[in-house]
Amino acid sequence: VRTVRLAVIPGDGIGPEVVGEALKVLDAATVGTGLVFEQTPFSLGAARYLETGDVLTDDDLDAIKGHDAILLGAVGGVPGDPRLVGANIERGLLLKLRFELDHYVNLRPTVLHAGVASPLASPGEVDFVVVREGTEGPYVGNGGAIRVGTPAEVANEVSVNTAYGVERVVRYAFAAASERPRKRLTLVHKTNVLVFAGSLWKRTVDAVAAEHPDVSVDYLHVDAATIFLVTDPARFDVIVTDNLFGDILTDLAGAISGGIGLAASGNINPDGRFPSMFEPVHGSAPDIAGKGIADPTAAIGSVALLLRHLGEPDAAASIERAIAADIADRGDRVRSTSEVGDAIAARIGSHD
Ligand code: NAD
Ligand code: IPM
Ligand code: MN
Repeated sequence: VRTVRLAVIPGDGIGPEVVGEALKVLDAATVGTGLVFEQTPFSLGAARYLETGDVLTDDDLDAIKGHDAILLGAVGGVPGDPRLVGANIERGLLLKLRFELDHYVNLRPTVLHAGVASPLASPGEVDFVVVREGTEGPYVGNGGAIRVGTPAEVANEVSVNTAYGVERVVRYAFAAASERPRKRLTLVHKTNVLVFAGSLWKRTVDAVAAEHPDVSVDYLHVDAATIFLVTDPARFDVIVTDNLFGDILTDLAGAISGGIGLAASGNINPDGRFPSMFEPVHGSAPDIAGKGIADPTAAIGSVALLLRHLGEPDAAASIERAIAADIADRGDRVRSTSEVGDAIAARIGSHD
């Protein structure tokens, strides 16, 4: 028996709805395998903040660190809710976890499954993974403002890029590329304008490329990358990119591959010093929360990524097969969140 301590952060909005289905499928995939998940629920997010004023206490963080992995639904309230302005749940909770737990790889795979309606007329075979840097860039909170609210206001957000931080994520991306059949890596940046950070990223990719003659490398400016994600997404294999570009590209990747409700992700600490955190790419979707109609597939796919990260590829693959099979005959049926979860759970181990 292998016991895995799993921290579960359902969060806000549709977060708890999709996490419930993800745990249902985790159960189905691990029952009778000797793999036991000891779950600790953490009540964190906008709802907790409104109730107690806490976003993420040191005790919460310490307790989370004592786990082997984290499953997160989504956090955040209605964008613009005045009661949440000072709290900044995204920064104080989600980004704090990514930074404190050194999740320097934000892994976001995109597969256009058979049977999925893409908004693109002829997308081709879409199967790529975005390796998004997770601990640096414009996300670090290195900024400030002066003369706020006056006509002379100045607001700065500084993008931080370190040789150490860029090299480690680039190395991870090359290793990922060399394990994939096509062995292609595309650096996406904006080297024509962001010349300092761009130069560091470009030189780092060139240097690591020299150690990986098996991987073919190219480069795109981020604006052009958005063109090709729409006109020719099949060209991509592994994309390595900065934190903010990766955020934007992966919502687009979700949209072209059947919707954000399918997009899974992992915030990974490859060193294994801290627990990695798995979550759908989407947010708390206040517009559909409480209606029982959110698609739980992204959260379920995130459980598959979690299992693979924990070294349980068979359990991971059983979920991925079940998702693919479910997606293949969805058609335009409208199902509730729990109907989708039930259907995927029922396919586990049924080999269809
Ligand atoms: P969102 O991803 O929550 O929603 C964007 C659109 O996608 C909405 O129309 C929503 O209904 C739809 N959608 C999202 N997930 C879906 C699903 N599983 N099934 C069907 N439709 C789905 O983005 P937003 O509206 O910009 O953000 C809402 C809140 O979530 C904000 O507070 C934001 O900061 C937060 N957020 C959190 C995370 C996270 O916790 N990882 C990620 C993104 C946004
Ligand atoms: C995501 C989200 C987060 C991000 C926000 C909520 C901080 O959009 O996970 O993609 O920008 O990384
Ligand atoms: Mn995002």
